[in-house]
This record gives sequence, structure tokens and C-alpha cells, in this order.
Amino acid sequence: MDVVHYLLLFQYCIAVYFVNCKRQIHDEPDYSKIEYGGILHKKDTTVSSQDKDLVAVIQYSYSFVKERFPWSVPDFLNQTKTSDVEKLELVYSIDEENPVYKEDLMQQGHDGVSPLHVILFGFLYKFTLYWETQKEAFAHQFTVSMFPREVLNMYSHIYSDPQSHTQGTPPSVSCESNPQPMTSQSDVLLQREEGSHEYFHKDASHWLKDSDQSSCKREPSDGVSSDKKHQSKPDFTVMSFNTWNMNSLSGKEKHYVKRIQYLGEVVARSKPDIIGFQEVRYEYSKGGQLGPSQVQHLVDMLEGYQFVFQPGQLQPNSLYEGRTEEGVAIFSRFPIMSVNHLLLFRNRSNSADTHQRVCLHAVISHPTGTQINILNTHLSLSHEAREKAVLAIWKYVKQLQGPVIFMGDLNAEPEEQALKFLRGEVSLENQQTTGFVDVWSETHGQDTPGLTYNTLKQDLSKRIDYIFMKKSKHMQIVEVTTPDDERRGHKAASDHLPVFAKFTLSTPET
Ligand SMILES: *[C@@H]1O[C@H](CO)[C@@H](O)[C@H](O)[C@H]1NC(C)=O
Ligand SMILES: *[C@@H]1O[C@H](CO)[C@@H](O)[C@H](O)[C@H]1NC(C)=O
Repeated sequence: MDVVHYLLLFQYCIAVYFVNCKRQIHDEPDYSKIEYGGILHKKDTTVSSQDKDLVAVIQYSYSFVKERFPWSVPDFLNQTKTSDVEKLELVYSIDEENPVYKEDLMQQGHDGVSPLHVILFGFLYKFTLYWETQKEAFAHQFTVSMFPREVLNMYSHIYSDPQSHTQGTPPSVSCESNPQPMTSQSDVLLQREEGSHEYFHKDASHWLKDSDQSSCKREPSDGVSSDKKHQSKPDFTVMSFNTWNMNSLSGKEKHYVKRIQYLGEVVARSKPDIIGFQEVRYEYSKGGQLGPSQVQHLVDMLEGYQFVFQPGQLQPNSLYEGRTEEGVAIFSRFPIMSVNHLLLFRNRSNSADTHQRVCLHAVISHPTGTQINILNTHLSLSHEAREKAVLAIWKYVKQLQGPVIFMGDLNAEPEEQALKFLRGEVSLENQQTTGFVDVWSETHGQDTPGLTYNTLKQDLSKRIDYIFMKKSKHMQIVEVTTPDDERRGHKAASDHLPVFAKFTLSTPET
């Protein structure tokens, strides 16, 4: 850190002190006031189609999808439409109720006349890009991060699978491997409610550049028979993996770049259909040549996945190093039908509970037609918060329809109260789980260690990463492993090993 950074850090500390003294801070944040930790909930659903940033964001998303699906995306942006635009302003708050003003940080007196300036960490734009051919409707949903203004990164991209619409020989499935009958997703999206905002891209044509179709590495397919096989296969695989955010042992970007590329290789070897990543970051001051968005690093290495990234907290160093946020992501080879997330309990008076935690939920449509609930989380370092979190997650899981898979870095070993609760061995606040199983113990027995942490040391010592399933006669566990490349210390892909599980589905009739 140079002098300027020290100065900014000092100002931040003063600001925290100042804000904390001025207002009574409750232990628990008011979750309705925050989008996630440190960011106030500030949605704008009346974004103008003349919004210059929106135009750039749409162009970026169009190019993103055009590069991946050159055979199904129209040649020109003006042949597509946009709907359901939402703009989230990432307004910083220390007390998570009121914005921090630049004037507060700079210790300048406020004259009560000139407007105060909020501290903005950019925007998240959410919207649907859609188009229709004579036969088919296509819809892609995006979340694009903008910080600073000229830097755009894709936080989520989900779609109904366009490949099933292709006439003649579809391209090879190396980028997209889940042909799937047209789902109702785009139909639903196209039945827009009255009053929702819809944009035609007349104004955006000047952004248009013909997409370089050769940039996609797809080749013509030699036929669809293997796809058909895949389509009817009832098996699917799931991986939970903590990415160790943007750390590198040497502290050098070069090492992070190598590490994350190796992590991508480790994931790709297992070919998981669904992945839950934890500790995924946007870190403005890091990432080196790969850029600041870790979800983008993962997307670039793992082709053929739809994905959703949900930040949980903004880190305070954002003030002097630029936006730094961390959360969880779900990647899926199968269409993601809907997404939701829970902000989990946090006690701000507990020094072990400094970060807001989230549980991300995606409903995934398996090629057999079954919809699977996937939940992914990274729990607190405070056992008090972990117990409240698992209770909230169970209450949420209880009301879900269909198969449920819950995974993540739970920061808790099997003997812990939170894990006993998940396995239905103890109750918390008069709640008890039923039919919720830790798939590792179910297949290997309670006493098999299954250690996942910490690969930076020579010997692993803890099991804190898990995959749970809600028992169902329609979904069985086939096998569970902790893929171990035996790399330790500075050669490891992450400080955790992944957990990998294979399941099989049966149709309700059989
Ligand atoms: C759409 O954009 C293309 C390329 O800029 C242009 O040639 C064409 O005239 C536009 N079509 C309409 C209907 O605006
Ligand atoms: C939060 O933690 C503090 C300090 O450990 C404790 O006194 C307080 O009761 C906790 N609050 C809640 C809501 O659990």
C-alpha cells in the first residue's frame, strides 16, 4: 500500500467510528434494506432506453451470446428486443441502513444546502434479451456488472437451450452439451406483464459490430446420436468447490493466473453437470491479465455452462482498492429455470461474523424433464450464525417441490451442532430435518474422514465441504468422491478439495 492508500484506509476507519457513534447499530442487519452486505437495496426498474450505459451493456451481452451461439443469434442487434430491465445501484453503506457520503469520509462539514454524494460501487444491470423466428422464441437472461464505467463483466447468463431449435446439422456440442426439448421458459418470459419495460434496439445500432463467428471453437457435429443418448441419461453429477477467492501464495498475480487455470483443469476433469463454487470474487485490484471478475475466469475456462453469481458482501477495502466483493456461484450444463437467494443470519457484534452470507438457489431442468433444486452456500465462521443459517435454509428447503441438493463450504465439521441438525440428529428452535442426508456419510459411512481442508498444508485435517440431498424415491446417490490430485502447498488448485457426487433420477412412474 502506498501513502494514498494508507490515507484512505485511515479515513475509512474514522468513517466507521463516526457512523458507529452516531447511530445505534443493531446486532442483526435489516435484510430488507440491503441488496447484500454493505450494499443498500436500490433498484431502478424505470431505466430509460436512452441510458447510455444500458446501451453498452446490451451490446456487450449481445456479443457475449453471439460468440457462444452464432447459429441461433440474429445477425444484427436490432433484430432482438430487451425486456424486464432492472438497474441496481451499488450504494455503499457501513451501517447497512444509510448511505455513506463522500463528505463523511472526507471529514468535510456539510452546509445542509449542497447535495451529499453517495459512494457508488457501480451497477448491476439485469434484463432479458429475446428474439423470435417464425417457429421459435429465444430468451437469454443476463446480469451484467459495471465497475468502473468502462469495465463490464457477466455475472449471470441463463437461457432456454437454443440448440434444440437448429435445423439441419447442429454444431458440435463441445461448447454446449445439453440438448433439451424447448422448455416453457421463453414462453413464460415472453408473456410479459403489462407495464414491464421493453426496448427495441433502434438506438443501439451504432454499437453494433459484426461478431466474429470464427472466434467460437465449435465445429460441425458428426450427428446428434450422442446428444440423444445424453438427453435420456438419468444420471447427473454435482461438484462443490471453494475457489479460495483470488488468493495466491506468492501474492503475485502471475501465480493466481496459473492457480485458477489449474483449478479449471481440475474441475473439467470431473466433467460435472452442476457446480457450486464458493468464495467467488469481483476484486478490482486483482486478477491480473484475467481481469477483476473471478466468475468470468471460471466461465472462460469452463465452456458450455449457464451460470449465476450472487455476491454476499462488499469488503471494506473496496473504499481504497476499488470494488471487492465475494459470493457464491452455480454453474449448470442444464437450463437454469429460475434463481433466488437468501441473505443468512449475521450478528455484527460478533467478531467471527464479519461477512454477510448468502444461500443461492437455482432450479435446474434436467433433460429427463425433472426439475432439480440446487442450493449453494458458504457459511459463517461463527457457530451461532451457522446454526441460524442452517435452520433458515431447512425452513426454505422444506417448502421446495421436487429433488433438492444442498452443498457448500459449511465451515463446520461433522460433529458440530449445525451438521447434527442438518442430519436430523438434533432439533433447533423446535425444527428438525427429515430425510436430509449427507451424501458422503451415506455412501462411505459416518466414520470415513472425507477430509477436504486444508490443502495448503501437507496433511488435510478437516471435513467442512458437503453435499446434502433430500431423500426421494426419484433420486438416488451413485457415488461420492473428493477428487484429490494430491497437490499440496503452493501447487494446490485451492485450499479445499472439491466434493463430487453422481446421482441418478427415475421418473415418478417407475
Ligand atoms: C439493423 O442494423 C443493420 C446494421 O447496422 C442495418 O444494416 C439495418 O438497416 C438495420 N435494420 C433496421 C430495421 O433498422
Ligand atoms: C450477538 O453477539 C453478541 C456478542 O457475542 C451477543 O451479546 C448478542 O446476544 C448476539 N446477538 C444476537 C442477535 O444473537
